[in-house]
Amino acid sequence: MPPLAERLDLAELVMRSLDRTAELPPKFGVHPRQVGSLAQAMPALLRGEAEDGSADLLGVKWIAGFPDNPRRGLPAYHALVLLTHPTSGEPLAVMDGGVITAARTSAVSGAVIRNLLRCGRACQASDGLRVALLGAGAQARAHLPVIGHLIPGARVRVVDLDRGRAEALAGEGTAIAGVASVKTAAGVREAVDGATFVVSMVSFGPNRQALDPAWLAPGVVFVAVDYDMEAPAALARDGLFLVDEATQFRAAQDGGQFAGYPEPDGTIGQLLAGEELGARKDATASGSAAASRTLVTHLGVGLADVVFGSAILARAEQLGLGRLLPR
Ligand SMILES: NC(=O)c1ccc[n+]([C@@H]2O[C@H](COP(=O)([O-])OP(=O)(O)OC[C@H]3O[C@@H](n4cnc5c(N)ncnc54)[C@H](O)[C@@H]3O)[C@@H](O)[C@H]2O)c1
Repeated sequence: MPPLAERLDLAELVMRSLDRTAELPPKFGVHPRQVGSLAQAMPALLRGEAEDGSADLLGVKWIAGFPDNPRRGLPAYHALVLLTHPTSGEPLAVMDGGVITAARTSAVSGAVIRNLLRCGRACQASDGLRVALLGAGAQARAHLPVIGHLIPGARVRVVDLDRGRAEALAGEGTAIAGVASVKTAAGVREAVDGATFVVSMVSFGPNRQALDPAWLAPGVVFVAVDYDMEAPAALARDGLFLVDEATQFRAAQDGGQFAGYPEPDGTIGQLLAGEELGARKDATASGSAAASRTLVTHLGVGLADVVFGSAILARAEQLGLGRLLPR
């Protein structure tokens, strides 16, 4: 796995490429029987600079998620990333997509946080900011080092339906570079109270859009990793609302998620490119707490898995790691 600083740059590359040099269909999948489960294919192509396609990156992630797994001692998500030669179609590598999913997702959140800290809608000093983590599973564990790296002295509050999981994460948290404290909260309201950044990553389930936006501070940046499990439509309607990839967002909405959400104000790629976003909302509701909030929903793109997988393959080849499979 590339080091954290490189992962943030890879995540930025992915977000900036989405509207330009990438090709990827919305996720498609089949539906296993367990409530909240999914099994999806996420093919992606990144076009490199070489005209003959030799610098392109090509591959697919196959991911299966079963929210009850942690109760059985298994990760909620298992995944494979398959990389394919871009001009011959030969298989290049098969990788554990679980770790890649956690690393690339937290890096995308990190790229957003880094940008908004640098100079978002309201530039702010990062030291010692309050951060709320909703959910204390694999994603939260992957996000903590990113938060410590970007927000030195971060004071984190974590909440999970399973209090033991939140306590375990809190116990590990203070050993992470840059994290000043990790405390557990009794509920979501307590966790988000006064937080400048909220990262939402609870398991999928039947009760969506659970959070009351009145609990959020003015100017909060809410990063939704768990689709609309916590973030309500009102947050998207009233504040600045960004997604990673608009086509995929619309496909998810057509599939019954994100009920009541408006069309996004823009993409993370546009934010990173420094485009002016959400001017209409700023003009109509200037000064209101609701309008000062930002919701960034990243649904996850196969392109991120292919880009991260390719970086891992390049490193593995340099270091002589991995196992060659017989032809
Ligand atoms: N956007 C992306 O790219 C992306 C990638 C991977 C996972 N995800 C999503 O992120 C979420 C977390 O994934 P994970 O791998 O960490 O799962 P996980 O099962 O390891 O962790 C989820 C945690 O949420 C807790 N939880 C469930 N409902 C809750 C609630 N109402 N309040 C507080 N805690 C609650 C569970 O007890 C569990 O500890 C899932 O919704 C998953 O679908 C998104």
